[in-house]
Amino acid sequence: MSDPGDLSDLENDPLPEDQIGLLAGLCTTRAIRRYTDERVPAAALRAMLFAATRAPSGSNRQPFRFVVLTDGPKAREAKQLMASSAQAVWSDKRARDGYDSGSGADSNSPKTRMARSMEHFVAHFADAPVLILPSLVRYRPPHPGEGASIYPACQNLLLAARALGYGGVFTGMHHMVEDELKRLLRIPDEVFIAGTITVGRPAGGHGPVRRRPLSELVFAEEWDAPAVWAVDPPGTAFTSAGPPRKTGL
Ligand SMILES: Cc1cc2nc3c(=O)[nH]c(=O)nc-3n(C[C@H](O)[C@H](O)[C@H](O)COP(=O)(O)O)c2cc1C
Repeated sequence: MSDPGDLSDLENDPLPEDQIGLLAGLCTTRAIRRYTDERVPAAALRAMLFAATRAPSGSNRQPFRFVVLTDGPKAREAKQLMASSAQAVWSDKRARDGYDSGSGADSNSPKTRMARSMEHFVAHFADAPVLILPSLVRYRPPHPGEGASIYPACQNLLLAARALGYGGVFTGMHHMVEDELKRLLRIPDEVFIAGTITVGRPAGGHGPVRRRPLSELVFAEEWDAPAVWAVDPPGTAFTSAGPPRKTGL
Protein backbone atom coordinates (compact mmCIF):
# COMPACT_ATOMS: atom_id res chain seq x y z
CA MET A 1 0.00 0.00 0.00
CA SER A 2 1.09 3.58 -0.33
CA ASP A 3 1.97 5.94 2.51
CA PRO A 4 0.62 4.32 5.71
CA GLY A 5 -0.31 7.81 6.96
CA ASP A 6 -3.08 7.61 4.39
CA LEU A 7 -4.73 4.86 6.35
CA SER A 8 -5.14 6.69 9.62
CA ASP A 9 -8.84 7.52 9.58
CA LEU A 10 -10.30 6.28 6.32
CA GLU A 11 -13.41 4.80 7.86
CA ASN A 12 -14.48 8.22 9.06
CA ASP A 13 -13.50 9.99 5.85
CA PRO A 14 -16.00 10.64 3.08
CA LEU A 15 -14.87 10.08 -0.51
CA PRO A 16 -12.77 12.88 -2.02
CA GLU A 17 -14.44 15.58 -4.13
CA ASP A 18 -14.71 15.01 -7.91
CA GLN A 19 -12.53 17.18 -10.09
CA ILE A 20 -14.96 16.97 -13.02
CA GLY A 21 -18.70 16.51 -13.54
CA LEU A 22 -20.09 13.06 -14.33
CA LEU A 23 -21.07 13.60 -17.97
CA ALA A 24 -17.93 15.58 -18.85
CA GLY A 25 -15.81 12.97 -17.11
CA LEU A 26 -17.27 10.02 -18.89
CA CYS A 27 -17.09 11.72 -22.31
CA THR A 28 -13.40 12.55 -21.84
CA THR A 29 -12.01 9.45 -20.13
CA ARG A 30 -9.23 8.00 -22.25
CA ALA A 31 -6.87 5.08 -22.05
CA ILE A 32 -3.93 6.50 -20.06
CA ARG A 33 -0.74 4.50 -20.52
CA ARG A 34 1.94 6.92 -19.26
CA TYR A 35 2.22 7.68 -15.58
CA THR A 36 4.38 9.79 -13.34
CA ASP A 37 6.06 7.83 -10.57
CA GLU A 38 3.78 9.44 -7.98
CA ARG A 39 2.21 6.87 -5.68
CA VAL A 40 -1.55 6.64 -5.61
CA PRO A 41 -2.66 7.36 -2.04
CA ALA A 42 -4.83 4.90 -0.19
CA ALA A 43 -7.73 7.38 -0.04
CA ALA A 44 -7.80 7.62 -3.84
CA LEU A 45 -7.49 3.86 -4.29
CA ARG A 46 -10.27 3.34 -1.81
CA ALA A 47 -12.53 5.75 -3.76
CA MET A 48 -11.77 4.01 -7.07
CA LEU A 49 -12.44 0.57 -5.66
CA PHE A 50 -15.56 1.78 -3.88
CA ALA A 51 -16.87 3.15 -7.20
CA ALA A 52 -15.94 -0.10 -8.95
CA THR A 53 -17.83 -2.17 -6.43
CA ARG A 54 -20.95 0.02 -6.84
CA ALA A 55 -21.31 -1.33 -10.39
CA PRO A 56 -24.30 -3.47 -11.29
CA SER A 57 -24.09 -7.24 -11.78
CA GLY A 58 -26.60 -9.93 -12.68
CA SER A 59 -29.04 -10.48 -9.77
CA ASN A 60 -26.70 -8.23 -7.76
CA ARG A 61 -24.51 -11.31 -7.15
CA GLN A 62 -21.42 -9.09 -7.07
CA PRO A 63 -19.09 -11.73 -8.48
CA PHE A 64 -16.35 -9.14 -9.00
CA ARG A 65 -13.15 -9.15 -6.98
CA PHE A 66 -10.12 -6.90 -7.42
CA VAL A 67 -6.55 -7.81 -6.62
CA VAL A 68 -4.80 -4.47 -6.14
CA LEU A 69 -1.03 -4.55 -6.57
CA THR A 70 1.07 -1.56 -5.54
CA ASP A 71 4.59 -2.04 -4.24
CA GLY A 72 4.81 -5.16 -2.07
CA PRO A 73 7.10 -8.05 -3.10
CA LYS A 74 4.27 -9.98 -4.78
CA ALA A 75 3.10 -6.82 -6.53
CA ARG A 76 6.57 -6.29 -7.97
CA GLU A 77 6.76 -9.89 -9.14
CA ALA A 78 3.28 -9.74 -10.69
CA LYS A 79 4.13 -6.48 -12.48
CA GLN A 80 7.29 -8.06 -13.92
CA LEU A 81 5.34 -11.07 -15.11
CA MET A 82 2.74 -8.80 -16.67
CA ALA A 83 5.44 -6.65 -18.28
CA SER A 84 6.85 -9.66 -20.14
CA SER A 85 3.39 -10.72 -21.25
CA ALA A 86 2.52 -7.18 -22.37
CA GLN A 87 5.71 -6.95 -24.46
CA ALA A 88 4.93 -10.20 -26.23
CA VAL A 89 1.23 -9.40 -26.78
CA TRP A 90 2.05 -5.95 -28.19
CA SER A 91 4.80 -7.22 -30.56
CA ASP A 92 2.33 -9.72 -31.92
CA LYS A 93 -0.46 -7.16 -32.26
CA ARG A 94 1.87 -4.59 -33.86
CA ALA A 95 2.67 -7.02 -36.66
CA ARG A 96 -0.81 -8.53 -36.98
CA ASP A 97 -2.76 -5.23 -37.09
CA GLY A 98 -0.29 -3.50 -39.45
CA TYR A 99 0.81 -0.72 -37.09
CA ASP A 100 3.84 -0.05 -39.29
CA SER A 101 2.04 0.12 -42.63
CA GLY A 102 -0.62 2.40 -44.16
CA SER A 103 -1.21 5.44 -41.92
CA GLY A 104 1.27 3.81 -39.51
CA ALA A 105 3.99 5.26 -41.74
CA ASP A 106 2.73 8.83 -41.03
CA SER A 107 4.45 10.00 -37.84
CA ASN A 108 1.43 11.99 -36.66
CA SER A 109 -1.44 9.66 -37.51
CA PRO A 110 -3.64 8.33 -34.67
CA LYS A 111 -2.31 4.86 -35.47
CA THR A 112 1.32 5.98 -35.04
CA ARG A 113 0.48 7.88 -31.87
CA MET A 114 -1.23 4.77 -30.51
CA ALA A 115 1.81 2.65 -31.42
CA ARG A 116 4.13 5.11 -29.63
CA SER A 117 1.93 5.10 -26.57
CA MET A 118 1.83 1.29 -26.57
CA GLU A 119 5.62 1.03 -26.96
CA HIS A 120 6.11 3.25 -23.94
CA PHE A 121 3.41 1.44 -22.00
CA VAL A 122 4.84 -2.04 -22.43
CA ALA A 123 8.43 -0.87 -21.88
CA HIS A 124 7.41 0.70 -18.54
CA PHE A 125 4.65 -1.68 -17.55
CA ALA A 126 6.42 -2.85 -14.41
CA ASP A 127 6.66 0.77 -13.21
CA ALA A 128 2.91 1.45 -13.29
CA PRO A 129 2.06 2.71 -9.78
CA VAL A 130 -0.93 0.39 -9.47
CA LEU A 131 -1.85 -2.83 -11.24
CA ILE A 132 -5.33 -4.18 -10.62
CA LEU A 133 -6.62 -7.58 -11.65
CA PRO A 134 -10.42 -7.41 -11.95
CA SER A 135 -11.61 -10.97 -11.48
CA LEU A 136 -14.89 -12.81 -11.67
CA VAL A 137 -15.86 -15.55 -9.28
CA ARG A 138 -17.78 -17.99 -11.46
CA TYR A 139 -20.88 -19.64 -10.09
CA ARG A 140 -21.62 -21.54 -13.30
CA PRO A 141 -19.61 -22.74 -16.33
CA PRO A 142 -18.20 -19.99 -18.58
CA HIS A 143 -21.11 -18.12 -20.12
CA PRO A 144 -21.19 -15.53 -22.94
CA GLY A 145 -22.96 -12.98 -20.73
CA GLU A 146 -20.71 -13.26 -17.68
CA GLY A 147 -18.50 -10.32 -18.64
CA ALA A 148 -21.48 -8.02 -18.17
CA SER A 149 -21.10 -8.62 -14.43
CA ILE A 150 -17.47 -7.46 -14.28
CA TYR A 151 -16.76 -4.98 -17.08
CA PRO A 152 -19.11 -2.23 -15.84
CA ALA A 153 -17.14 -2.36 -12.56
CA CYS A 154 -13.90 -1.94 -14.52
CA GLN A 155 -15.23 1.14 -16.28
CA ASN A 156 -16.52 2.56 -12.99
CA LEU A 157 -13.00 2.21 -11.64
CA LEU A 158 -11.50 4.06 -14.61
CA LEU A 159 -14.13 6.79 -14.38
CA ALA A 160 -13.47 7.23 -10.67
CA ALA A 161 -9.75 7.51 -11.43
CA ARG A 162 -10.57 10.25 -13.94
CA ALA A 163 -12.79 12.00 -11.40
CA LEU A 164 -9.82 12.25 -9.05
CA GLY A 165 -7.22 13.34 -11.60
CA TYR A 166 -5.75 9.87 -12.17
CA GLY A 167 -5.88 7.76 -15.29
CA GLY A 168 -5.68 4.14 -16.30
CA VAL A 169 -6.16 1.60 -19.00
CA PHE A 170 -7.92 -1.73 -19.20
CA THR A 171 -5.94 -4.41 -21.01
CA GLY A 172 -6.22 -8.04 -21.94
CA MET A 173 -2.47 -8.51 -21.87
CA HIS A 174 -2.31 -11.02 -19.04
CA HIS A 175 -3.27 -14.16 -20.95
CA MET A 176 0.24 -15.47 -21.50
CA VAL A 177 1.00 -15.35 -17.78
CA GLU A 178 -2.41 -16.05 -16.36
CA ASP A 179 -1.44 -19.35 -14.76
CA GLU A 180 1.69 -17.87 -13.18
CA LEU A 181 -0.28 -14.90 -11.88
CA LYS A 182 -2.86 -17.19 -10.35
CA ARG A 183 -0.20 -19.25 -8.63
CA LEU A 184 1.69 -16.22 -7.37
CA LEU A 185 -1.40 -14.43 -6.05
CA ARG A 186 -3.24 -17.55 -4.85
CA ILE A 187 -6.21 -16.90 -7.14
CA PRO A 188 -8.49 -19.96 -7.14
CA ASP A 189 -8.98 -21.98 -10.35
CA GLU A 190 -12.65 -21.10 -10.72
CA VAL A 191 -11.86 -17.39 -10.76
CA PHE A 192 -11.61 -15.74 -14.16
CA ILE A 193 -9.08 -12.90 -14.45
CA ALA A 194 -11.12 -10.59 -16.66
CA GLY A 195 -8.28 -8.23 -17.56
CA THR A 196 -5.75 -5.90 -16.06
CA ILE A 197 -6.05 -2.24 -15.16
CA THR A 198 -3.03 -0.01 -14.57
CA VAL A 199 -3.60 3.27 -12.77
CA GLY A 200 -1.46 6.29 -12.00
CA ARG A 201 -1.14 10.03 -12.34
CA PRO A 202 -1.14 10.81 -16.09
CA ALA A 203 2.24 11.98 -17.45
CA GLY A 204 2.01 14.66 -20.11
CA GLY A 205 -1.08 15.75 -21.98
CA HIS A 206 -3.49 13.56 -23.82
CA GLY A 207 -5.82 14.54 -26.62
CA PRO A 208 -9.57 14.23 -26.88
CA VAL A 209 -11.52 10.99 -27.06
CA ARG A 210 -11.92 10.12 -30.75
CA ARG A 211 -14.65 7.88 -32.03
CA ARG A 212 -16.68 7.41 -35.21
CA PRO A 213 -19.43 9.97 -35.81
CA LEU A 214 -22.55 9.28 -33.76
CA SER A 215 -24.55 8.82 -36.97
CA GLU A 216 -22.42 5.76 -37.84
CA LEU A 217 -22.99 4.17 -34.48
CA VAL A 218 -26.60 4.95 -33.61
CA PHE A 219 -29.69 3.89 -35.53
CA ALA A 220 -33.34 4.65 -34.95
CA GLU A 221 -36.16 2.20 -35.38
CA GLU A 222 -34.15 -0.29 -37.45
CA TRP A 223 -30.60 -1.27 -38.39
CA ASP A 224 -28.73 1.39 -40.34
CA ALA A 225 -31.65 3.88 -40.29
CA PRO A 226 -30.50 7.39 -39.28
CA ALA A 227 -31.54 8.96 -35.99
CA VAL A 228 -32.02 12.67 -36.72
CA TRP A 229 -31.02 13.61 -33.17
CA ALA A 230 -27.77 11.62 -33.29
CA VAL A 231 -25.54 14.64 -33.90
CA ASP A 232 -22.09 15.02 -32.35
CA PRO A 233 -21.66 18.09 -30.13
CA PRO A 234 -19.35 20.91 -31.29
CA GLY A 235 -15.65 20.14 -30.97
CA THR A 236 -16.03 16.35 -31.23
CA ALA A 237 -12.91 14.59 -32.54
CA PHE A 238 -13.25 11.57 -34.79
CA THR A 239 -11.39 8.45 -35.75
CA SER A 240 -12.16 5.23 -37.51
CA ALA A 241 -9.02 3.63 -36.01
CA GLY A 242 -8.87 -0.09 -35.49
CA PRO A 243 -8.47 -3.12 -37.71
CA PRO A 244 -10.51 -2.94 -40.95
CA ARG A 245 -14.23 -3.60 -40.55
CA LYS A 246 -16.01 -6.41 -42.35
CA THR A 247 -17.96 -5.14 -45.35
CA GLY A 248 -21.42 -3.94 -44.49
CA LEU A 249 -20.76 -3.49 -40.74
C1 LIG B 1 -11.98 -4.92 -24.07
C2 LIG B 1 -10.81 -3.96 -24.12
C3 LIG B 1 -9.55 -4.49 -24.31
C4 LIG B 1 -8.46 -3.63 -24.34
N1 LIG B 1 -7.21 -4.17 -24.44
C5 LIG B 1 -6.14 -3.36 -24.41
C6 LIG B 1 -4.83 -3.91 -24.39
O1 LIG B 1 -4.66 -5.14 -24.38
N2 LIG B 1 -3.79 -3.05 -24.35
C7 LIG B 1 -3.97 -1.70 -24.29
O2 LIG B 1 -2.97 -0.96 -24.21
N3 LIG B 1 -5.19 -1.12 -24.32
C8 LIG B 1 -6.28 -1.93 -24.35
N4 LIG B 1 -7.54 -1.38 -24.31
C9 LIG B 1 -7.72 0.09 -24.36
C10 LIG B 1 -8.17 0.49 -25.76
O3 LIG B 1 -7.10 0.28 -26.67
C11 LIG B 1 -8.59 1.97 -25.79
O4 LIG B 1 -9.62 2.18 -24.86
C12 LIG B 1 -9.05 2.37 -27.17
O5 LIG B 1 -7.99 2.31 -28.08
C13 LIG B 1 -9.63 3.76 -27.20
O6 LIG B 1 -8.67 4.68 -26.82
P1 LIG B 1 -9.07 5.87 -25.84
O7 LIG B 1 -9.72 5.20 -24.66
O8 LIG B 1 -7.80 6.55 -25.49
O9 LIG B 1 -10.02 6.75 -26.57
C14 LIG B 1 -8.64 -2.22 -24.24
C15 LIG B 1 -9.93 -1.70 -24.04
C16 LIG B 1 -10.99 -2.57 -23.95
C17 LIG B 1 -12.37 -1.99 -23.68
